[in-house]
Formats: sequence, structure tokens, C-alpha cells
Amino acid sequence: MGRNGRILRISVIGTGYLGLTHAVCMADLGHQVLAIDVDAEKIAKAARGETPFFEPGLEPLLRKNLDAGRLRFTDSFAEVGEFGDVHFICVGTPQAKDGGGSADLSYVFSAAEALAPHLNRATLVVGKSTVPVGTSREIIARVHAAAPAGELVDYAFNPEFLREGYAVQDSLTPDRIVFGVTSDAADELMRAVYAAPLASGIPGLTMDLETAELVKVAANSFLATKISFINVMAEMCEASGADVIKLADAIGIDERIGRKFLSPGLGFGGGCLPKDIRAFRAAAADKGVDSLVDLLTTVDTINLGRRDRVINLARGALGGDLSGKRIAVLGAAFKPNSDDIRDSPSLAISGRLADEGAIVAVHDPVAMPNAARVRPDLRYADSVHDAAQGADLVLHLTEWADYRAIDPDALRSIVTNPVLIDGRCTLDAAVWRAAGWTVLIPGRP
Ligand code: UDX
Repeated sequence: MGRNGRILRISVIGTGYLGLTHAVCMADLGHQVLAIDVDAEKIAKAARGETPFFEPGLEPLLRKNLDAGRLRFTDSFAEVGEFGDVHFICVGTPQAKDGGGSADLSYVFSAAEALAPHLNRATLVVGKSTVPVGTSREIIARVHAAAPAGELVDYAFNPEFLREGYAVQDSLTPDRIVFGVTSDAADELMRAVYAAPLASGIPGLTMDLETAELVKVAANSFLATKISFINVMAEMCEASGADVIKLADAIGIDERIGRKFLSPGLGFGGGCLPKDIRAFRAAAADKGVDSLVDLLTTVDTINLGRRDRVINLARGALGGDLSGKRIAVLGAAFKPNSDDIRDSPSLAISGRLADEGAIVAVHDPVAMPNAARVRPDLRYADSVHDAAQGADLVLHLTEWADYRAIDPDALRSIVTNPVLIDGRCTLDAAVWRAAGWTVLIPGRP
């Protein structure tokens, strides 16, 4: 018996961040899981028990479930169609390259169309990839047209809310589970899939497909708005000689506001928030909801402005001209506990500084191989000290816990100029200043 009583046969299409985590967590709930990807190398790696990205706790759980015989990988859609009672579509929906910010849905439609011809009996297809409102209906139409079982194939939308670095925890014990459905049978089957977390008291919310699609992008837009809000407060604090961290602590104590996602700094990056708010803006424009277009445009503009602010501070600290100046950058990942450099504020800033002629040395505990693929022109340093050797300026741009343990005295002895910009507002400025550093923090005195 699985942890949830009823063992289901679950397929997962796509083994990227979302799909691999979902497949492993479904197996860990006790289900039989078969995962498929069009990338043969990804499949081979996962089948050997290796995760292709840095995610604390995922690899041991992958191995545990492979060893238990609950999780397998394949490259055959025929096998997947035959196997699954429930098929989760977990492929990427990146930002389209047309410049309008809309989502590229080609992977989602390809996955549905590759699966559909192999659906010979009543089954449930579940969309998990983040999609614009209305996409589920379009997937249903395509699946019904191509599946031998036709309208016996039901559809649900079950958004994920996982954060990188906490993917396992967020998948197994989420704050809520959302079921967008068009039938009671689909709702029941989804509740059987998630029987264990639901039994532990996690709320399961059933709704129509469109609302479920909007819940996901609304949640990410709210988080993005909250971050941009505190970042404009940082600008106001800076203009007034006030301290944005004290302000965030003071307003965050109010339970209606909450301190989470109120950390100022470089703003949001990564593979989700930026592309999701842009796709949501494109969807709002399509539907003529101009107020939402305006809101999300402002949130995005404020967010990108944070990068300019740090570059301006750096330029100012170096006498107005970056060419030939040595800059050490601490952090390349878009946030700590991740090796993801997609839309990373720190890597974007590093690249722009180098483009202006600075000699940039980047350090990151885990993200350097990924960063080097995107910006091979930057120097990647083995240690913080290696990066800072002879530096005219040190930038702290990803708030890894390791960086809080840096000894400012020791670092001061190897730099040319003891000037630090703390773009993430998390280092102890008093300690650095006591060690002889000039510390500049956007939004703090
Ligand atoms: C996010 C959502 O949290 C998750 O629910 C969704 O499913 C996917 O997108 P993730 O991209 O992993 O997850 O990162 P998250 O921890 O949410 O951080 C997003 C970005 O916001 C990071 O760049 C982070 O540095 C930044 N951030 C976060 C802030 O600048 N300030 C904060 O207070 C919080």
C-alpha cells in the first residue's frame, strides 16, 4: 500500500525542474510513476539517479524511489499512453521570442499532441505547466480531436507553486492544492492523487479551469508586486535618508502585510516570476484589461530599474568610468540555494559591467558552470578571495549564507579599494564598516 492508500499509475511528461520534481514526489507519495522527456540525455541521467540541476533533497528522493521500483523513465509515448491513469503535462512555457512577452506554448501543445494518439481509454490529462488563461480549453480540443478515446479523455489544471531550492518541500507539503476541473470525476481522481497531503490537512480547492489558470499567475503577480513595492520604498528611503530594512520590518509585522517577500534589493529574477508577469500582461492586453497591463508594466519596470541603480552606484563608486576597473561579484544565481541563472539580476549586472569595460570576476557556490555557458567572457573565480584579489570594488549580488560568513578584515587585505555595494541588503554593514570598508546599500544609509 502507498502512503495514500490508493496507488495510481501516473505519467509525467517533461523532466525539467517541474516535471522531475513532480515525478519524484508522486512516486514518494506511493504511486507508480512513468516519466518521459524528448531529451534522451535527461532521461538517461535521471534513470541513473542523477538530477541535472541543483535542488537540495531531490537527488536522494529520486534514488529512493528508483530503488523502490516506483519510478521509471521512458522515451515512448505509446508506453506512456498505455500506462497512465493520470498524465501530467509538465513541460516548459518560456517567454516567446516575439518580443511581446507572451508565453511560448509550443512545448505544451506538442506534449499534448504526442500523447493524444496513444490515449485509447478513459483517462485524465492534467496540465501543470503555467499557461495563459484559456489554454486548457485549447489543449482539451486538441486532445479530443487526436485521441482514439475522444471525449472519454478528461482534463484538469493543477498549478504548481514550488520555489526552487524548496521544490521537494513545496511539492509534498504545499500551502494549498488547486484543482481546475470540468467534472466531478476529475476532481475525485485528483483528490486520490493527492490523498496523502489532503489527509494531512492541506487545503484542496476545486474550481473551474479558467480560475485555476488565473490563480497561478495571480499568485506570482502578487509576489512580484510585493517585491517591487518594497523596492520603490527603497528608492524613497534613499531619497530621504531613511532605512528600508527598518521600514520593511515595521510594516511587515502587520499580519495584513507580512514580512515575507518584502526584502528589498535587486528585485526578482529566475525562470518564473519575470516571464509569468510578462505573459500575464500579454494575456491582459489581449482581453483589454488595461489596468492590469499598467500594473504589471510598472512592476516589471521598477524591477529592472534595480539593476540600473546598482550599476549607477558602481559607476559612481569608481569615479564615473568602469573601463579597466576590477570588480568582484559575489553571486551569479538568481537567488541563493539554486544554480539557476535564468534572468538572474546578478549575472545581468555582471555582464553589463563587463560590457562597459570593467574586468569582472564572478564567484558563486554552485551556479558558475551555468553562468559560464551564458557569459563565457567573464572570469569565474574558485573562491571569494580569488574573485576579490586586487578588486577596486566588491558587489554582493546573490545572498548566499556563505557570504555572510566572509571575514571583512581578511578581504580588506587583498583588495585594492575596500568598497562594497551590498545589492541584497543582507550583509552586516556595521561589521564591514568597522573593518575599514565603505559600504553602499541601495535604500539604506
Ligand atoms: C517563484 C514562486 O515563489 C513560486 O511559487 C512559483 O511557483 C515560481 O516562482 P522561484 O522563482 O523559485 O519561485 O523563486 P522565489 O523564491 O519566489 O524568488 C523569486 C525572486 O524574487 C528571486 O529572484 C528572489 O531573489 C526575489 N525576491 C524574493 C526578492 O527580491 N525579495 C523577496 O523578498 C523575495
